Amino acid sequence: MTHARGYPIVRPPNVLKLAKQAALTTFSANSALSSLRSSTTGRPSEPRLEQRLADIQQLLSEELSWVEVELSAAARGGPAPATLAAQHLLSVGGKRVRPTALLLSAACFGPVTDAVRHLAVAAELVHSATLLHDDVIDEGLDRRGAPAARRLWGNGVSVLAGDLLLVHALERTELHRPEALPDLIVTLRKLVEGEIVQLRGRTELDLSEATYDVILRNKTASLFAWATRTGARTAGANPADQESMACFGEHLGVAFQLIDDVLDYTGERTGKTLLSDLREGKMTLPLVLAVAERPELVEQLSRIQRGDPAPVEAVCSSVVESGACEEVRRRANRYTELSVAALQRIELSTARALLEQVARQLAERAA
Ligand code: IPE
Ligand code: IPE
Ligand code: MG
Ligand code: MG
Repeated sequence: MTHARGYPIVRPPNVLKLAKQAALTTFSANSALSSLRSSTTGRPSEPRLEQRLADIQQLLSEELSWVEVELSAAARGGPAPATLAAQHLLSVGGKRVRPTALLLSAACFGPVTDAVRHLAVAAELVHSATLLHDDVIDEGLDRRGAPAARRLWGNGVSVLAGDLLLVHALERTELHRPEALPDLIVTLRKLVEGEIVQLRGRTELDLSEATYDVILRNKTASLFAWATRTGARTAGANPADQESMACFGEHLGVAFQLIDDVLDYTGERTGKTLLSDLREGKMTLPLVLAVAERPELVEQLSRIQRGDPAPVEAVCSSVVESGACEEVRRRANRYTELSVAALQRIELSTARALLEQVARQLAERAA
């Protein structure tokens, strides 16, 4: 890797390779979102049950391509080296789940206007900012199959790059849909508080399910709920429908983080380092459930928390053997069903059917 002005230059990604790696990200065909909109008043087509997220995103390709262009522009907007770190994160992949959910949530109720698209960009900018910060907090090594920005530019740059993207998200929201800003600020507060409570667990051994629930609802489900509620609201949904969509997003977000936490133990293609949570002493649900079954693990966990990596492999084996990962997947499936049930409260449309498919695909994911 070459360096200029003391900072590494990241080679432009091989787009085809990335598309294969991040099988969930496709931005190439013509958009069919107009047909999703028209079908909100007509009879919806029946999507195949096995339809993959990539296929769904293909239907949104025009909107997602637009979002992609705006994301790159936002990442370039500001002083280097923060912009280099931001561009790196945004160029190496990502599932783009939050903008996808926001666009489809809007399409359930009306046209996907420019304001909706800008908010979809804002959702991904906020998410990207949290990843740049989260990798510093978690000392993450890899992100999206590439070195985390902090490994290339350092923690300080990663924090500032996250700040920059966050400011872009707030400015964009204020400019294009100021009504959505107060809700976004409340969401950001929850997100930050979730990360703080989680960080507390680094030094205080807290194995309660209640604490875990607070963490995942705040740090993850809050942004999903904002995305789906804001999509609906911006497209003119009535308050009851907005509430149903928020409920959908919240349950979807809970299921999403549950699966993410399982994948830290069992995932093979996440683009992140396996067992990071355990190494950091992060008390996620697979671990919480395993310890409830096998209290003798507490002693080994305390050692890990004190910085001794020796028991990591043994604790991981115990977690996997305990069946905790299967139980967490079962719980994620229950939250997915709750999210789908919330969707049933709004009028049937192709966009609604696709949101249901998104929820099911995310629950089944292995990466
Ligand atoms: C990772 O989110 C952080 C969590 C909330 C678990 P994603 O799994 O959506 O990350 P990308 O955007 O696809 O990389
Ligand atoms: C991060 O949760 C959630 C955020 C709000 C950033 P994780 O720490 O589990 O996310 P990963 O596993 O690093 O992507
Ligand atoms: Mg993390
Ligand atoms: Mg994780």
